[in-house]
Amino acid sequence: MKGNVVIKIGGSLLFTENKKINSNEIAKFCRILKNKKFTGKLVVICGGGLLAREYIDAVRSFNGSEALCDTFGIEISRINSKLLIASFQDFAYPLVPSSIEELSKALLFEKIIVMGGLQPGQSTTSVALEVAEFIGAENVIVLTDVEGIYDKDPKKFTDAKLLKNLHYDQLRELLLEMTNDKQAAAGEYRIFDTVSLQILKRSDIRVIVMSGKDLNNFSKFWDGEKDINGTVISKK
Ligand code: UTP
Repeated sequence: MKGNVVIKIGGSLLFTENKKINSNEIAKFCRILKNKKFTGKLVVICGGGLLAREYIDAVRSFNGSEALCDTFGIEISRINSKLLIASFQDFAYPLVPSSIEELSKALLFEKIIVMGGLQPGQSTTSVALEVAEFIGAENVIVLTDVEGIYDKDPKKFTDAKLLKNLHYDQLRELLLEMTNDKQAAAGEYRIFDTVSLQILKRSDIRVIVMSGKDLNNFSKFWDGEKDINGTVISKK
């Protein structure tokens, strides 16, 4: 990988299917990055995963607002970030930036930066794109719980096909077709929420969506292998 890079990791990598912290996979992910020769800036954005959703469900049951629910998602994504920093040890900047200003200070050090959410109303994918814009990263890697973007929801349709390449416009059309009312609720923002689509529209960032459950695939991609499982999303 060359240039500055942002990686978004979500619940798929942070937690096991039986709701435990996936320390083995977290350690493996950090080990891969620690062992790569890389000269650019690297920012890892952590999602909230199922822990965030547990808190959000509880707050919602107290009739808390969606914005309040979002703040819980943000806090949990920051706790998850601290966990990654613990695993990166000296390779990581020790604090979790909670704003773009704090990120700009962290960037003065030659360390991997790990951060979570920024403000209510968006997902950590949007954070990844905001950070990519800020640091001039050409590539954002999104590690999620499926192998990429499909022509229909792979969790509902067994004949869903993985799309290897997509332009921003095609992505937007596809997401419009799949949209439902729940998509803009705390804890429910899907891989690309509205904010992330807006940022893509004004940027020229290449987004690579791949599975967070197959770190060998991620590692090969990092090393430049072209034939990987995933979806590459670009402007044109
Ligand atoms: P995400 O939904 O982005 O993390 O953030 P995730 O669950 O790990 O992502 P995936 O689905 O596995 O890829 C958790 C919640 O934190 C709040 C939102 O409520 C979001 O759903 N959040 C996050 C914000 O409100 N603002 C942010 O900038 C980031």
